[in-house]
Amino acid sequence: VSLMKSQPSDINYYTASYTAPSNIAFIKYWGKKDRQIPLNASLSMTLNACHSFVSLKALPAKDEIKKIFDFQFENLPNTKFETRFENYLQSIQDILPWLSDYQFEIRTHNTFPHSTGIASSASAFAALAMGLADLDAKITGTEFSFNKASKLARLGSGSACRSLYPGMVIWGENIKMKASNEFALPVPIIHPLFENLCDSVLIVDNEEKSVKSSVGHSLMHGHLFKEVRLFQAQENFNHLFDAIIQGDLEYFGEIIELEALTLHALMMTSTPSYMLMRPNTILLIEKIKDYRQTSKLPVYFTLDAGPNIHLIYPAQYTEVIKSWIDAELLAYCQKGMVIHDSMGSGAKRAEH
Ligand code: PMV
Repeated sequence: VSLMKSQPSDINYYTASYTAPSNIAFIKYWGKKDRQIPLNASLSMTLNACHSFVSLKALPAKDEIKKIFDFQFENLPNTKFETRFENYLQSIQDILPWLSDYQFEIRTHNTFPHSTGIASSASAFAALAMGLADLDAKITGTEFSFNKASKLARLGSGSACRSLYPGMVIWGENIKMKASNEFALPVPIIHPLFENLCDSVLIVDNEEKSVKSSVGHSLMHGHLFKEVRLFQAQENFNHLFDAIIQGDLEYFGEIIELEALTLHALMMTSTPSYMLMRPNTILLIEKIKDYRQTSKLPVYFTLDAGPNIHLIYPAQYTEVIKSWIDAELLAYCQKGMVIHDSMGSGAKRAEH
């Protein structure tokens, strides 16, 4: 329904617009093989506040060279993003053969607050893939397929395949659920304690990250700790899955912190090695641990591949946690920046 075929039919263009949120992984995907196949299963929470919007207009192709003839990010041309989208569209022509007959006008923007250092590739590729799957259904006269949309998102940015779905999402073969390496699936039932988790992102540094995640993934091949990491990821996945179903917040917290520190430890011990935590990241981690011990509140941290801290806690503690952040933590954030986010409902059709 998000698609319109123009009248009269000799113009023949199709449009599709979607928004998709970012997500934060609790079990980290780190390392891949073949065509964006993860080395281990991951589990994430879909976010709510940070969204990307992508609007596609597909017209019959005039030349075969470029897939995108008109591209705007936040109402302006943007060569960096256009090139990434162009390369992506070129790379998926075997999956969507009709792509060779079309060229695109693309408009995209983010609802993220500016200069937060938060990467938008997961949300952008999730929204783009939803649009492409929608066009695919209409052009080929088939049913819209979420599995296909998630697979298309995965080929743009691995973690993007999880952003389509609400709540908690898994991606990668594992023994807890019938899941796939090709696309993500929502966790069907979670304990009520986990239904409204919050994620307050403490912005320690708002610069774009210095190492691309594709470089980090590739450093897992030949990493001294690769095999033991894959074993640990599987164990952590299984235990976290159980904790989410049984409502064991404390165990959940223990595992997500271990996963965050492991991700950074892997980066620090790769060759070449790199360090994305900043001094204030470590200072904040210490403060979070102290506060948890004295307050007895279930507040935990996780980290993405960057210096910012994601504070994870159940919604019922929002007021007290926000007061603590304001009083004790903001001083260690870049320009006092924090983004209060929470569990979200996934990708949605948008207005053009
Ligand atoms: O989706 P990519 O290729 O940018 O990799 C993301 C990897 C992490 O964000 C560090 C972990 C994850 O599972 O999201």
